[in-house]
Amino acid sequence: KKILFAASESVPFIKTGGLADVVGSLPKYFDKEKYDVRVMLPKYMCMKQEWKDKLTYRTHFYMDLNWRKQYVGILELEYDGILFYFIDNEYYFNGFAPYGEMYADIEKFAFFSKAVLSSLPLIDFRPDIIHCHDWQTGLIPVFLDNFRYGNEYYRGIKTIMTIHNLKFQGTWDTKRVRDITGLPQYYFVPDKLEAYKDANYLKGGMVYADRITTVSNTYAEEIKMPFYGEKLDGLMNARANCLSGIVNGIDYDDYNPETDRFIEKNYTVENFRKEKIKNKLALQKELNLDQDNKVMMIGIVSRLTDQKGFDLVAYVMDELCQDAVQIVALGTGEEQYENMFRHFAWKYPGKVSANIYYSEAMSHKIYAGSDAFLMPSLFEPCGLSQLMSLRYGTVPIVRETGGLKDTVEPYNEYEKTGTGFSFMNYNAHEMLGTVRYAERIFYDKKRDWNKIVERGMKKDFSWKNSAKQYEELYDNM
Ligand code: ADP
Ligand code: GLC
Repeated sequence: KKILFAASESVPFIKTGGLADVVGSLPKYFDKEKYDVRVMLPKYMCMKQEWKDKLTYRTHFYMDLNWRKQYVGILELEYDGILFYFIDNEYYFNGFAPYGEMYADIEKFAFFSKAVLSSLPLIDFRPDIIHCHDWQTGLIPVFLDNFRYGNEYYRGIKTIMTIHNLKFQGTWDTKRVRDITGLPQYYFVPDKLEAYKDANYLKGGMVYADRITTVSNTYAEEIKMPFYGEKLDGLMNARANCLSGIVNGIDYDDYNPETDRFIEKNYTVENFRKEKIKNKLALQKELNLDQDNKVMMIGIVSRLTDQKGFDLVAYVMDELCQDAVQIVALGTGEEQYENMFRHFAWKYPGKVSANIYYSEAMSHKIYAGSDAFLMPSLFEPCGLSQLMSLRYGTVPIVRETGGLKDTVEPYNEYEKTGTGFSFMNYNAHEMLGTVRYAERIFYDKKRDWNKIVERGMKKDFSWKNSAKQYEELYDNM
Protein backbone atom coordinates (compact mmCIF):
# COMPACT_ATOMS: atom_id res chain seq x y z
CA LYS A 1 0.00 0.00 0.00
CA LYS A 2 1.12 3.53 -0.76
CA ILE A 3 0.51 6.14 1.93
CA LEU A 4 1.24 9.84 1.76
CA PHE A 5 1.47 11.88 4.95
CA ALA A 6 0.66 15.54 4.39
CA ALA A 7 1.52 17.89 7.23
CA SER A 8 2.74 21.35 8.11
CA GLU A 9 5.68 20.25 10.28
CA SER A 10 7.99 17.34 10.89
CA VAL A 11 11.18 16.64 12.78
CA PRO A 12 14.03 17.01 12.06
CA PHE A 13 13.18 19.77 9.56
CA ILE A 14 10.76 22.06 11.33
CA LYS A 15 8.97 21.78 14.67
CA THR A 16 6.67 23.85 16.82
CA GLY A 17 5.11 21.03 18.83
CA GLY A 18 4.23 17.36 19.14
CA LEU A 19 2.77 17.22 15.63
CA ALA A 20 6.28 17.42 14.22
CA ASP A 21 7.46 14.57 16.44
CA VAL A 22 4.62 12.38 15.22
CA VAL A 23 4.95 13.13 11.51
CA GLY A 24 8.73 12.70 11.59
CA SER A 25 8.87 9.47 13.56
CA LEU A 26 5.73 7.40 12.89
CA PRO A 27 6.51 6.67 9.19
CA LYS A 28 9.68 4.83 10.18
CA TYR A 29 7.74 2.24 12.12
CA PHE A 30 5.58 0.78 9.38
CA ASP A 31 6.32 -2.61 7.89
CA LYS A 32 8.42 -1.55 4.89
CA GLU A 33 7.51 -4.63 2.89
CA LYS A 34 3.84 -3.74 2.95
CA TYR A 35 3.66 0.02 3.26
CA ASP A 36 5.44 2.66 1.25
CA VAL A 37 4.95 5.73 3.45
CA ARG A 38 6.18 9.11 2.24
CA VAL A 39 5.76 12.58 3.69
CA MET A 40 4.94 15.91 2.04
CA LEU A 41 5.78 19.20 3.78
CA PRO A 42 6.11 22.87 2.89
CA LYS A 43 9.63 24.06 2.22
CA TYR A 44 9.81 26.89 4.72
CA MET A 45 12.41 29.57 4.37
CA CYS A 46 12.93 29.34 8.14
CA MET A 47 14.16 25.76 7.92
CA LYS A 48 17.79 25.39 8.98
CA GLN A 49 20.17 25.98 6.10
CA GLU A 50 21.79 22.58 6.62
CA TRP A 51 18.49 20.95 5.62
CA LYS A 52 17.77 23.28 2.75
CA ASP A 53 21.19 22.47 1.33
CA LYS A 54 20.42 18.78 1.32
CA LEU A 55 17.19 18.97 -0.71
CA THR A 56 17.32 18.03 -4.35
CA TYR A 57 15.12 19.53 -7.03
CA ARG A 58 12.61 17.15 -8.53
CA THR A 59 10.34 19.21 -10.76
CA HIS A 60 8.04 22.21 -10.85
CA PHE A 61 4.79 23.38 -12.41
CA TYR A 62 2.28 26.21 -12.21
CA MET A 63 -1.02 25.76 -10.45
CA ASP A 64 -4.22 27.76 -10.55
CA LEU A 65 -5.46 28.95 -7.19
CA ASN A 66 -8.64 30.61 -8.37
CA TRP A 67 -7.46 33.76 -10.17
CA ARG A 68 -3.77 33.38 -9.29
CA LYS A 69 -1.25 31.22 -11.05
CA GLN A 70 1.31 29.99 -8.55
CA TYR A 71 4.68 28.34 -8.84
CA VAL A 72 4.91 24.91 -7.22
CA GLY A 73 8.40 23.49 -6.86
CA ILE A 74 8.93 19.95 -5.62
CA LEU A 75 12.12 19.02 -3.82
CA GLU A 76 12.96 15.78 -2.11
CA LEU A 77 15.20 14.19 0.45
CA GLU A 78 15.51 10.68 1.73
CA TYR A 79 16.08 10.77 5.45
CA ASP A 80 16.29 7.80 7.79
CA GLY A 81 14.80 5.56 5.12
CA ILE A 82 11.78 7.80 4.46
CA LEU A 83 11.24 9.90 1.37
CA PHE A 84 10.23 13.48 2.18
CA TYR A 85 8.84 15.84 -0.47
CA PHE A 86 8.94 19.59 0.02
CA ILE A 87 6.56 21.98 -1.71
CA ASP A 88 8.40 25.14 -2.67
CA ASN A 89 6.86 28.56 -3.12
CA GLU A 90 8.74 31.60 -1.92
CA TYR A 91 5.67 33.79 -1.72
CA TYR A 92 3.86 31.57 0.77
CA PHE A 93 6.63 29.95 2.77
CA ASN A 94 8.89 32.93 3.41
CA GLY A 95 8.10 33.66 7.08
CA PHE A 96 10.46 33.52 10.04
CA ALA A 97 8.28 30.80 11.52
CA PRO A 98 6.07 28.15 9.89
CA TYR A 99 2.94 29.93 11.04
CA GLY A 100 2.13 33.61 11.26
CA GLU A 101 -0.98 35.73 10.99
CA MET A 102 -4.12 33.66 10.44
CA TYR A 103 -5.04 35.90 7.53
CA ALA A 104 -1.96 34.76 5.64
CA ASP A 105 -1.92 31.18 6.93
CA ILE A 106 -5.38 30.50 5.64
CA GLU A 107 -4.20 31.20 2.10
CA LYS A 108 -0.83 29.52 2.64
CA PHE A 109 -2.38 26.20 3.57
CA ALA A 110 -5.07 26.35 0.91
CA PHE A 111 -2.17 26.61 -1.50
CA PHE A 112 -0.29 23.78 0.18
CA SER A 113 -3.31 21.47 0.22
CA LYS A 114 -4.06 21.96 -3.43
CA ALA A 115 -0.38 21.69 -4.31
CA VAL A 116 -0.11 18.33 -2.54
CA LEU A 117 -2.85 16.87 -4.73
CA SER A 118 -1.64 18.54 -7.90
CA SER A 119 1.91 17.24 -7.39
CA LEU A 120 1.01 13.57 -7.29
CA PRO A 121 0.97 12.87 -11.03
CA LEU A 122 4.33 14.63 -11.41
CA ILE A 123 6.19 12.64 -8.78
CA ASP A 124 4.80 9.40 -10.03
CA PHE A 125 3.38 8.43 -6.66
CA ARG A 126 -0.31 7.76 -6.57
CA PRO A 127 -1.10 7.03 -2.91
CA ASP A 128 -3.89 4.68 -1.93
CA ILE A 129 -4.38 6.83 1.13
CA ILE A 130 -3.52 10.42 1.94
CA HIS A 131 -3.09 10.79 5.66
CA CYS A 132 -3.78 14.41 6.61
CA HIS A 133 -2.73 16.02 9.87
CA ASP A 134 -4.53 18.93 11.53
CA TRP A 135 -6.33 21.91 10.02
CA GLN A 136 -3.46 22.95 7.77
CA THR A 137 -4.25 19.95 5.58
CA GLY A 138 -8.01 19.94 6.13
CA LEU A 139 -8.70 21.16 2.62
CA ILE A 140 -7.03 18.12 1.05
CA PRO A 141 -10.09 15.85 1.36
CA VAL A 142 -12.25 18.75 0.13
CA PHE A 143 -10.11 19.50 -2.91
CA LEU A 144 -9.89 15.78 -3.56
CA ASP A 145 -13.66 15.56 -3.70
CA ASN A 146 -13.63 18.42 -6.15
CA PHE A 147 -10.77 16.96 -8.23
CA ARG A 148 -12.60 13.68 -8.67
CA TYR A 149 -15.15 15.18 -10.99
CA GLY A 150 -13.85 14.60 -14.45
CA ASN A 151 -10.44 13.32 -13.38
CA GLU A 152 -10.00 9.58 -13.27
CA TYR A 153 -6.58 9.83 -11.60
CA TYR A 154 -7.99 11.00 -8.29
CA ARG A 155 -10.85 8.54 -8.06
CA GLY A 156 -10.32 5.89 -5.43
CA ILE A 157 -7.73 7.76 -3.38
CA LYS A 158 -8.86 7.59 0.24
CA THR A 159 -8.17 10.06 3.03
CA ILE A 160 -7.67 10.05 6.77
CA MET A 161 -7.94 13.18 8.85
CA THR A 162 -5.96 12.98 12.08
CA ILE A 163 -6.80 15.54 14.72
CA HIS A 164 -3.83 16.45 16.88
CA ASN A 165 -5.60 19.42 18.37
CA LEU A 166 -9.25 20.27 17.85
CA LYS A 167 -8.75 23.75 19.23
CA PHE A 168 -7.09 24.92 16.03
CA GLN A 169 -9.50 24.65 13.12
CA GLY A 170 -8.37 27.19 10.56
CA THR A 171 -11.42 29.37 10.18
CA TRP A 172 -11.97 32.45 8.11
CA ASP A 173 -14.64 34.44 6.42
CA THR A 174 -16.45 32.28 3.86
CA LYS A 175 -16.27 34.82 1.08
CA ARG A 176 -12.52 35.15 1.27
CA VAL A 177 -11.95 31.41 1.44
CA ARG A 178 -14.13 30.94 -1.61
CA ASP A 179 -12.05 33.57 -3.35
CA ILE A 180 -8.74 32.02 -2.29
CA THR A 181 -9.58 28.46 -3.12
CA GLY A 182 -11.80 28.84 -6.13
CA LEU A 183 -13.93 26.03 -4.71
CA PRO A 184 -17.56 26.22 -5.87
CA GLN A 185 -20.29 27.62 -3.66
CA TYR A 186 -21.55 24.06 -3.30
CA TYR A 187 -19.00 23.45 -0.52
CA PHE A 188 -19.79 26.52 1.53
CA VAL A 189 -22.82 25.27 3.42
CA PRO A 190 -23.21 24.14 7.04
CA ASP A 191 -23.05 20.42 6.31
CA LYS A 192 -19.76 20.81 4.44
CA LEU A 193 -17.03 23.41 4.87
CA GLU A 194 -19.01 25.99 6.78
CA ALA A 195 -19.30 26.17 10.57
CA TYR A 196 -20.96 29.03 12.41
CA LYS A 197 -20.98 31.17 9.25
CA ASP A 198 -17.23 30.84 8.62
CA ALA A 199 -15.29 28.47 6.42
CA ASN A 200 -13.59 25.89 8.60
CA TYR A 201 -10.70 23.86 7.16
CA LEU A 202 -10.63 21.17 9.81
CA LYS A 203 -14.35 20.68 9.57
CA GLY A 204 -14.09 20.32 5.81
CA GLY A 205 -11.43 17.70 6.32
CA MET A 206 -13.56 15.82 8.81
CA VAL A 207 -16.65 15.90 6.62
CA TYR A 208 -14.83 14.62 3.54
CA ALA A 209 -12.23 12.27 5.01
CA ASP A 210 -13.02 8.57 4.87
CA ARG A 211 -11.75 8.12 8.41
CA ILE A 212 -11.07 10.45 11.31
CA THR A 213 -8.58 9.64 13.99
CA THR A 214 -7.24 11.43 16.98
CA VAL A 215 -4.22 10.78 19.13
CA SER A 216 -5.68 8.99 22.17
CA ASN A 217 -8.79 7.02 23.03
CA THR A 218 -9.87 9.30 25.82
CA TYR A 219 -9.60 12.39 23.63
CA ALA A 220 -11.64 10.61 20.94
CA GLU A 221 -14.41 10.26 23.51
CA GLU A 222 -13.96 13.69 25.06
CA ILE A 223 -14.39 15.58 21.80
CA LYS A 224 -17.89 14.21 21.45
CA MET A 225 -18.79 16.37 24.45
CA PRO A 226 -19.30 20.13 24.44
CA PHE A 227 -16.54 20.86 26.96
CA TYR A 228 -13.82 19.43 24.73
CA GLY A 229 -15.63 19.52 21.41
CA GLU A 230 -14.64 23.09 20.48
CA LYS A 231 -18.12 23.56 18.99
CA LEU A 232 -17.69 20.61 16.65
CA ASP A 233 -18.90 17.94 19.09
CA GLY A 234 -22.08 17.61 17.01
CA LEU A 235 -20.04 16.63 13.97
CA MET A 236 -17.92 14.29 16.09
CA ASN A 237 -21.05 12.48 17.19
CA ALA A 238 -22.40 12.39 13.68
CA ARG A 239 -19.19 10.79 12.44
CA ALA A 240 -18.60 8.63 15.52
CA ASN A 241 -18.57 5.47 13.39
CA CYS A 242 -15.55 6.71 11.48
CA LEU A 243 -13.75 8.21 14.47
CA SER A 244 -11.16 6.35 16.48
CA GLY A 245 -8.26 7.09 18.81
CA ILE A 246 -4.72 5.80 18.33
CA VAL A 247 -2.32 6.86 21.01
CA ASN A 248 0.99 8.44 20.01
CA GLY A 249 4.37 6.93 20.64
CA ILE A 250 7.77 8.59 20.77
CA ASP A 251 10.97 7.90 18.91
CA TYR A 252 12.83 5.49 21.16
CA ASP A 253 16.11 6.19 19.38
CA ASP A 254 15.98 9.95 19.85
CA TYR A 255 14.67 9.71 23.40
CA ASN A 256 16.89 7.16 25.04
CA PRO A 257 18.64 7.87 28.35
CA GLU A 258 21.15 5.17 27.56
CA THR A 259 22.53 6.87 24.45
CA ASP A 260 21.32 10.49 24.64
CA ARG A 261 24.19 12.78 23.70
CA PHE A 262 22.60 15.90 25.17
CA ILE A 263 22.76 14.72 28.76
CA GLU A 264 25.56 14.68 31.33
CA LYS A 265 25.37 11.02 32.30
CA ASN A 266 23.69 8.18 30.45
CA TYR A 267 21.71 5.67 32.47
CA THR A 268 19.37 2.71 32.23
CA VAL A 269 16.58 1.11 34.19
CA GLU A 270 19.25 -0.96 35.94
CA ASN A 271 21.48 1.85 37.15
CA PHE A 272 19.27 4.96 37.32
CA ARG A 273 19.36 4.87 41.16
CA LYS A 274 23.02 5.83 41.07
CA GLU A 275 23.48 7.59 37.76
CA LYS A 276 20.40 9.69 37.03
CA ILE A 277 21.21 12.08 39.86
CA LYS A 278 24.34 13.25 38.08
CA ASN A 279 22.08 14.85 35.50
CA LYS A 280 20.26 16.73 38.21
CA LEU A 281 23.50 18.06 39.70
CA ALA A 282 24.76 19.12 36.28
CA LEU A 283 21.49 20.88 35.53
CA GLN A 284 21.52 22.69 38.88
CA LYS A 285 24.97 23.95 38.07
CA GLU A 286 24.12 25.00 34.53
CA LEU A 287 20.99 26.88 35.64
CA ASN A 288 22.43 28.41 38.82
CA LEU A 289 20.16 26.51 41.13
CA ASP A 290 21.23 25.47 44.63
CA GLN A 291 23.50 22.46 44.44
CA ASP A 292 21.52 19.89 46.36
CA ASN A 293 21.36 16.21 45.56
CA LYS A 294 18.47 15.56 47.95
CA VAL A 295 15.91 18.10 46.77
CA MET A 296 13.03 17.05 44.53
CA MET A 297 13.31 18.72 41.14
CA ILE A 298 10.10 19.28 39.17
CA GLY A 299 10.50 19.83 35.43
CA ILE A 300 8.22 21.58 32.95
CA VAL A 301 8.82 21.56 29.18
CA SER A 302 5.91 23.01 27.29
CA ARG A 303 4.30 25.52 25.03
CA LEU A 304 3.16 28.13 27.54
CA THR A 305 -0.52 28.32 26.66
CA ASP A 306 -3.89 27.96 28.37
CA GLN A 307 -4.14 24.38 27.11
CA LYS A 308 -1.31 23.29 29.36
CA GLY A 309 -2.86 24.40 32.65
CA PHE A 310 -0.47 27.15 33.63
CA ASP A 311 -3.14 29.23 35.29
CA LEU A 312 -3.27 26.47 37.93
CA VAL A 313 0.49 26.67 38.33
CA ALA A 314 0.43 30.47 38.60
CA TYR A 315 -2.26 30.30 41.26
CA VAL A 316 -0.35 28.08 43.71
CA MET A 317 3.24 28.78 42.75
CA ASP A 318 3.95 30.77 45.93
CA GLU A 319 2.60 27.96 48.08
CA LEU A 320 4.52 25.33 46.15
CA CYS A 321 7.72 27.30 46.59
CA GLN A 322 7.42 26.98 50.37
CA ASP A 323 8.08 23.25 49.93
CA ALA A 324 11.43 21.57 49.51
CA VAL A 325 11.35 21.54 45.74
CA GLN A 326 13.13 23.05 42.78
CA ILE A 327 11.18 23.98 39.68
CA VAL A 328 12.77 24.12 36.24
CA ALA A 329 10.62 25.41 33.40
CA LEU A 330 11.43 25.50 29.68
CA GLY A 331 8.97 26.98 27.25
CA THR A 332 7.69 29.83 25.15
CA GLY A 333 4.22 31.08 24.39
CA GLU A 334 1.75 33.46 25.94
CA GLU A 335 3.41 36.45 27.54
CA GLN A 336 1.48 36.16 30.81
CA TYR A 337 2.95 32.70 31.45
CA GLU A 338 6.44 33.60 30.29
CA ASN A 339 6.39 36.50 32.73
CA MET A 340 4.86 34.38 35.47
CA PHE A 341 7.84 32.02 35.38
CA ARG A 342 10.31 34.92 35.11
CA HIS A 343 8.69 36.50 38.13
CA PHE A 344 8.98 33.42 40.31
CA ALA A 345 12.56 32.79 39.18
CA TRP A 346 13.33 36.30 40.38
CA LYS A 347 11.42 35.83 43.63
CA TYR A 348 12.92 32.43 44.46
CA PRO A 349 16.48 32.42 43.14
CA GLY A 350 18.28 29.11 43.49
CA LYS A 351 14.92 27.40 43.58
CA VAL A 352 13.07 28.30 40.40
CA SER A 353 14.64 28.46 36.96
CA ALA A 354 12.74 30.06 34.06
CA ASN A 355 14.09 29.26 30.61
CA ILE A 356 11.97 31.15 28.16
CA TYR A 357 13.30 29.83 24.88
CA TYR A 358 13.21 26.78 22.67
CA SER A 359 16.01 24.26 22.98
CA GLU A 360 16.01 20.59 22.21
CA ALA A 361 19.20 20.08 24.19
CA MET A 362 17.80 21.75 27.29
CA SER A 363 14.57 19.76 27.01
CA HIS A 364 16.54 16.51 27.14
CA LYS A 365 18.53 17.74 30.13
CA ILE A 366 15.30 18.50 31.97
CA TYR A 367 13.69 15.15 31.11
CA ALA A 368 16.83 13.44 32.41
CA GLY A 369 17.64 15.65 35.39
CA SER A 370 14.24 16.13 37.02
CA ASP A 371 12.62 13.81 39.53
CA ALA A 372 9.07 14.66 38.54
CA PHE A 373 7.42 16.30 35.54
CA LEU A 374 4.37 18.54 35.89
CA MET A 375 1.72 18.64 33.15
CA PRO A 376 -1.67 19.76 34.51
CA SER A 377 -3.32 20.27 31.11
CA LEU A 378 -6.83 21.61 30.69
CA PHE A 379 -7.08 19.30 27.69
CA GLU A 380 -4.45 17.12 26.04
CA PRO A 381 -5.11 15.21 22.81
CA CYS A 382 -2.16 12.97 23.59
CA GLY A 383 0.88 14.71 25.00
CA LEU A 384 4.38 13.49 24.29
CA SER A 385 6.27 15.17 27.12
CA GLN A 386 4.87 12.78 29.71
CA LEU A 387 6.00 9.85 27.55
CA MET A 388 9.47 11.33 27.30
CA SER A 389 9.50 11.76 31.08
CA LEU A 390 8.48 8.16 31.66
CA ARG A 391 11.25 7.03 29.37
CA TYR A 392 13.78 9.06 31.38
CA GLY A 393 12.55 7.85 34.75
CA THR A 394 11.02 11.20 35.59
CA VAL A 395 7.68 10.71 37.29
CA PRO A 396 4.81 12.53 35.58
CA ILE A 397 2.26 14.48 37.61
CA VAL A 398 -0.70 15.09 35.31
CA ARG A 399 -4.35 15.94 35.11
CA GLU A 400 -6.54 13.03 34.06
CA THR A 401 -7.51 14.15 30.59
CA GLY A 402 -6.96 12.91 27.04
CA GLY A 403 -3.73 11.10 26.40
CA LEU A 404 -2.44 11.90 29.88
CA LYS A 405 -5.17 9.70 31.30
CA ASP A 406 -4.36 6.93 28.83
CA THR A 407 -0.60 6.87 29.38
CA VAL A 408 0.03 7.71 33.04
CA GLU A 409 -1.21 5.14 35.50
CA PRO A 410 -1.79 6.74 38.92
CA TYR A 411 0.28 5.41 41.80
CA ASN A 412 -1.58 3.17 44.18
CA GLU A 413 0.37 2.86 47.40
CA TYR A 414 -1.61 -0.15 48.64
CA GLU A 415 -1.30 -2.22 45.51
CA LYS A 416 2.14 -0.86 44.65
CA THR A 417 1.18 -0.08 41.07
CA GLY A 418 1.31 2.97 38.86
CA THR A 419 3.78 5.09 36.94
CA GLY A 420 2.86 8.60 38.02
CA PHE A 421 0.50 10.86 39.93
CA SER A 422 -2.73 12.34 38.67
CA PHE A 423 -5.70 14.46 39.69
CA MET A 424 -9.10 14.84 38.14
CA ASN A 425 -10.60 18.27 38.56
CA TYR A 426 -9.18 21.38 36.97
CA ASN A 427 -8.46 22.93 40.33
CA ALA A 428 -5.21 24.48 41.52
CA HIS A 429 -5.32 23.06 45.01
CA GLU A 430 -6.22 19.63 43.79
CA MET A 431 -3.06 19.86 41.69
CA LEU A 432 -1.03 21.14 44.63
CA GLY A 433 -2.34 18.36 46.83
CA THR A 434 -1.20 15.82 44.27
CA VAL A 435 2.24 17.39 43.96
CA ARG A 436 2.53 17.28 47.75
CA TYR A 437 1.50 13.65 47.84
CA ALA A 438 4.29 12.96 45.33
CA GLU A 439 6.71 14.89 47.55
CA ARG A 440 5.80 12.68 50.51
CA ILE A 441 6.53 9.53 48.56
CA PHE A 442 9.73 11.03 47.18
CA TYR A 443 11.09 12.04 50.60
CA ASP A 444 9.65 9.44 52.95
CA LYS A 445 9.32 6.31 50.81
CA LYS A 446 12.26 6.43 48.46
CA ARG A 447 12.07 2.72 47.69
CA ASP A 448 8.47 3.05 46.57
CA TRP A 449 9.37 6.12 44.55
CA ASN A 450 12.14 4.25 42.80
CA LYS A 451 9.70 1.47 41.98
CA ILE A 452 7.41 4.03 40.33
CA VAL A 453 10.37 5.25 38.31
CA GLU A 454 11.27 1.72 37.33
CA ARG A 455 7.75 0.81 36.23
CA GLY A 456 7.61 3.97 34.12
CA MET A 457 10.94 3.27 32.44
CA LYS A 458 9.84 -0.26 31.63
CA LYS A 459 6.66 0.84 29.86
CA ASP A 460 6.77 0.66 26.10
CA PHE A 461 5.62 3.86 24.43
CA SER A 462 7.60 3.35 21.28
CA TRP A 463 5.65 3.52 18.03
CA LYS A 464 5.55 -0.25 17.62
CA ASN A 465 2.03 -0.83 18.90
CA SER A 466 0.48 2.31 17.50
CA ALA A 467 1.99 1.83 14.06
CA LYS A 468 0.29 -1.60 14.04
CA GLN A 469 -3.04 0.08 14.70
CA TYR A 470 -2.51 2.52 11.83
CA GLU A 471 -1.61 -0.42 9.58
CA GLU A 472 -4.89 -2.10 10.50
CA LEU A 473 -6.75 1.10 9.78
CA TYR A 474 -5.07 1.40 6.36
CA ASP A 475 -5.92 -2.23 5.60
CA ASN A 476 -9.56 -1.81 6.51
CA MET A 477 -10.19 1.18 4.27
P1 ADP B 1 2.10 19.99 22.13
O1 ADP B 1 2.24 19.34 20.80
O2 ADP B 1 0.69 20.27 22.51
O3 ADP B 1 2.97 21.19 22.30
P2 ADP B 1 3.32 17.54 23.14
O4 ADP B 1 3.57 17.08 24.54
O5 ADP B 1 2.60 16.61 22.24
O6 ADP B 1 2.58 18.93 23.25
O7 ADP B 1 4.69 17.83 22.42
C1 ADP B 1 5.53 18.87 22.79
C2 ADP B 1 6.89 18.65 22.18
O8 ADP B 1 7.55 19.90 22.07
C3 ADP B 1 7.79 17.78 23.01
O9 ADP B 1 8.69 17.12 22.13
C4 ADP B 1 8.52 18.79 23.88
O10 ADP B 1 9.74 18.29 24.37
C5 ADP B 1 8.72 19.89 22.89
N1 ADP B 1 8.88 21.25 23.45
C6 ADP B 1 7.92 22.09 23.91
N2 ADP B 1 8.44 23.26 24.29
C7 ADP B 1 9.78 23.18 24.09
C8 ADP B 1 10.88 24.07 24.30
N3 ADP B 1 10.71 25.30 24.79
N4 ADP B 1 12.13 23.63 23.95
C9 ADP B 1 12.30 22.38 23.46
N5 ADP B 1 11.31 21.52 23.25
C10 ADP B 1 10.06 21.89 23.55
C1 GLC C 1 -0.93 18.38 19.63
C2 GLC C 1 -1.47 18.10 21.03
C3 GLC C 1 -0.64 17.09 21.80
C4 GLC C 1 -0.24 15.93 20.92
C5 GLC C 1 0.45 16.43 19.66
C6 GLC C 1 0.88 15.31 18.75
O1 GLC C 1 -0.01 19.39 19.61
O2 GLC C 1 -1.59 19.29 21.77
O3 GLC C 1 -1.39 16.63 22.91
O4 GLC C 1 0.63 15.06 21.63
O5 GLC C 1 -0.43 17.24 18.95
O6 GLC C 1 -0.18 14.48 18.37
